[in-house]
Amino acid sequence: MTTIVAHRGASTRAPENTLEAFRLAVEDGADAIELDVHLTADGQLAVIHDETLDRTTDRVGPVALRTMDEVREADAGASYVDPAGNRPFADRGLKVPTLDEVLAWLPEGVGLVIEIKARAAADAVVAAVADHAVRASGRLAVISFDEASIDRVRELDPDIKTGYLLVPTEPIEPALVWATEHGHVGVFPWEGDLGMDPLPLIARATAFGREIGCYVVNDPAQMQHLAACGLWGFVTDVPHVAREALGPAGA
Ligand code: G3P
Ligand code: CA
Repeated sequence: MTTIVAHRGASTRAPENTLEAFRLAVEDGADAIELDVHLTADGQLAVIHDETLDRTTDRVGPVALRTMDEVREADAGASYVDPAGNRPFADRGLKVPTLDEVLAWLPEGVGLVIEIKARAAADAVVAAVADHAVRASGRLAVISFDEASIDRVRELDPDIKTGYLLVPTEPIEPALVWATEHGHVGVFPWEGDLGMDPLPLIARATAFGREIGCYVVNDPAQMQHLAACGLWGFVTDVPHVAREALGPAGA
């Protein structure tokens, strides 16, 4: 079964990286939620994609220079614009979640993919998931574009599944070798780098004991193609489209 991972939640239907987007993703049939974490000035994990509050909230400035209380003053629903051009989530009290808040909410059986955006967050991520059921379930992955971040996670807790994200056009083969040598199970290239026929790559990864995922797939025909090739999973902005394309969970 190819895993449907909701990119920042159901991020076309609600503000990205908010509990609302995560709830909708589960409703839409996602197998797992992907989210991004940064560390605040007081050492808390804020679930937000960018280094700053500017793009996704009504506040500005670097997350790393704000306390979690200051980050929580921002309206995380302020920037989302729906297809009709409205801002239906503005002024509704949506906050930048803490990772603990997401972990407390996460329904049993739903996977979690935590992307470390700031190297300084790695230790706190390992501590946050240490006693959570998702860690023991095999449905948790910690991923990053930053090699040192996932190496640090493995150093602290080798039982956490880690994954290496490749920037677009980064050669996949050397990354596969590096990930294997460093014990990272997942290798996640940009979808465009998989080419028309990802079968040889998937076979090679399987021989290495690795899993290939990719980001971000929003086209249903491509979802079906990748699933037929045996891809571990893909990140998508439209989990409802993916569920429709791949059929019911567990089928
Ligand atoms: O899951 C991978 C994907 O989330 C990486 O890109 O920029 O959306 O964090 P980005
Ligand atoms: Ca991400």
